[in-house]
Amino acid sequence: MNTLHVELGDRSYPIYIDAGLLSDSSLFAKHIRSKRVCIVSNDLVAPLYLEALKNQLSDFDVDEVVLADGEAQKNLANFELIMSHLLAGAHGRDTTLIALGGGVIGDITGFAAACYQRGIDFIQVPTTLLSQVDSSVGGKTAVNHPLGKNMIGAFYQPKAVMIDIDSLKTLPEREFNAGIAEVIKYGILGDGEFFTWLEDNTDAIKAGDPETLTQMIETCCQCKADIVAADEKEGSVRALLNLGHTFGHAIEAELGYGKWLHGEAVATGMVLAAKLAVTMNLLQASDLRRIEALIAAFSLPLESPSEMSFDAFMSHMSRDKKNIAGKLRFIVPTAIGQSEIRDDITEEMLQQIL
Ligand code: NAD
Ligand code: GLY
Repeated sequence: MNTLHVELGDRSYPIYIDAGLLSDSSLFAKHIRSKRVCIVSNDLVAPLYLEALKNQLSDFDVDEVVLADGEAQKNLANFELIMSHLLAGAHGRDTTLIALGGGVIGDITGFAAACYQRGIDFIQVPTTLLSQVDSSVGGKTAVNHPLGKNMIGAFYQPKAVMIDIDSLKTLPEREFNAGIAEVIKYGILGDGEFFTWLEDNTDAIKAGDPETLTQMIETCCQCKADIVAADEKEGSVRALLNLGHTFGHAIEAELGYGKWLHGEAVATGMVLAAKLAVTMNLLQASDLRRIEALIAAFSLPLESPSEMSFDAFMSHMSRDKKNIAGKLRFIVPTAIGQSEIRDDITEEMLQQIL
């Protein structure tokens, strides 16, 4: 078992990473404060893992909310559904929510935990690669609004993150590759050695070699834990984790949530950010080519959707949460392993790359 820590004073918490971790009941018991537990999952993940999880919680009074699957379900209607379930079941402040699923379930469950009776405990059990390397760590919780992604939410940290790498065995390849986009992100934004390691280990990653996957997930979680510990509420360095996301969120919102997977939109967004950096003479063209090659190696898209106009990009990006005083802010790579936040990007530069 590998254990990392997110250091946030009295809100610090462990990230456990192992194969078969879902069958370790003592691990869960350590992080549940009273008898009552409510598991939130969806109708695709629940048939795969809900019984196994419930078996580990036999000492507890457990009920569940099972939502429909999909990004479009990360909405206020389902937030209300969770609230209604908790209220109807007379759950109190001592209930612990457990998010069993990918980033959609993790984000909505975390937001529900942040709001129910002004805040109850929750545990993340991420079952997609994307949620294991990114969304389950760091306490960003949210639901989408038709006018923008993740626009309603809270910073609210879990009590623990339990990553069972065995759950990746049932994950479709397209979803696995979408998660790899966020993995590559860590290499580009701050760890050039890790980027090279990814280039060297592409085949082992694709083959699902457990040791390689564990090492990869651990590196990502450590990188995220360090950034979150330094800047929990995105006042500075945490914004770097949004590399590729300004373009990516625009793509997701324009096409309709779920058409392109989040990781796919981020992959294209990172290529666009790198192209922007080349246009600004901040990044060498050879580094752009390495980024494109690694992204393509995992069958992720390099080009933005052909049907998406420049105006559509601009309209969505003008609502980006990073913007300050109406100025667009972008994360741009300045080398492989280095990136910065810029607010001096003109419409002409964007026109060139879009
Ligand atoms: P997801 O939760 O929709 O999961 C992807 C698909 O895989 C779904 O169909 C899901 O039911 C299925 N699935 C989950 N686990 C499975 C398993 N083990 N086997 C088979 N199928 C499985 O999407 P995601 O990619 O995990 O997360 C994307 C979401 O995360 C987006 O809403 C994004 O905004 C959010 N996100 C949040 C943060 C954050 O910091 N909070 C960071 C990155 C992304
Ligand atoms: N996924 C971006 C962040 O957690 O800040």
